[in-house]
Amino acid sequence: MLKISSPEKLRELALEAKDEGLTVGLVPTMGYLHEGHLSLVRRARERNDFVVVSIFVNPTQFGPGEDLDKYPRDLERDEALLEAAGVDILFIPTPEEVYPEGFQSLVHLEHITKPLCGASRKGHFDGVCTVVLKLFNMAVPDDAYFGMKDYQQLNVIERMVRDLNVGVRIEGMPIVREADGLAMSSRNKYLSAEERVRALALFKALDKAEELLEGGLRDREELLSAVRAILDEARVKIDYAELLDAENLEEINTFQGSLLLAIAAFVGNTRLIDNRVLVAR
Ligand code: PAJ
Repeated sequence: MLKISSPEKLRELALEAKDEGLTVGLVPTMGYLHEGHLSLVRRARERNDFVVVSIFVNPTQFGPGEDLDKYPRDLERDEALLEAAGVDILFIPTPEEVYPEGFQSLVHLEHITKPLCGASRKGHFDGVCTVVLKLFNMAVPDDAYFGMKDYQQLNVIERMVRDLNVGVRIEGMPIVREADGLAMSSRNKYLSAEERVRALALFKALDKAEELLEGGLRDREELLSAVRAILDEARVKIDYAELLDAENLEEINTFQGSLLLAIAAFVGNTRLIDNRVLVAR
């Protein structure tokens, strides 16, 4: 595995690989890797000849008062995991390499960034889209892999790729969970032992909603009340609990097709997200 920080070097190596007829797969991350990230890396290794993983804690997607400065890092461990996974290039640029002096471009999507995390984290998706499009231009991947854990992010990126004719195939991968159901996240590290127990309420709330839907419940408010009750009971502060059309993240009028139940909640000071796609039959 080659470790590089220069965007120009990355592009040169990726283009070289493509010249040799190899396909390039990209997995963008912010590091502090867990099985969720590694599932994407393994998928890229399966599908592509040349695998690039980026680790970059992207400042433009963090708002004031968010956890940019204390975002967990363990580069040594990440490197060992990626080496073992058979990654070709680990790309770790500095903020200055990604955003040199004078930088002033932002990629902004309209409707799809309005609800959920877009509502509670102003400007978040502008930062995400900008860095992801830059990474696409640097690594020139054929395929790029994203987790459904960040369901809205995956959908926003798919929309951007279509809207801007980006020419990268996007693949979404299932949420990887701990044995008890908690969605894996780098931010789980912030949880105390007591908070770790309460954090399970997000998963339990998703389970409950699925059970109610399968039992025939077709009332949005009633479904969301049941979700909120489980979070409240665990003293988890709800940022949002929403039921939207899973295809376009728009509000639903009827219980039909794929519905996205998405939750963001604070367990202590740690903001966690989770979601499930429910199918109303
Ligand atoms: P990060 O939170 O490090 O996540 C990197 C990728 O791993 C994302 O595609 C995310 O959805 C996926 N992922 C995280 N936890 C997962 C889980 N439990 N199961 C499956 N996939 C999971 O998302 C970002 O970084 C950034 O916004 C980024 C796309 C790198 C842009 O800066």
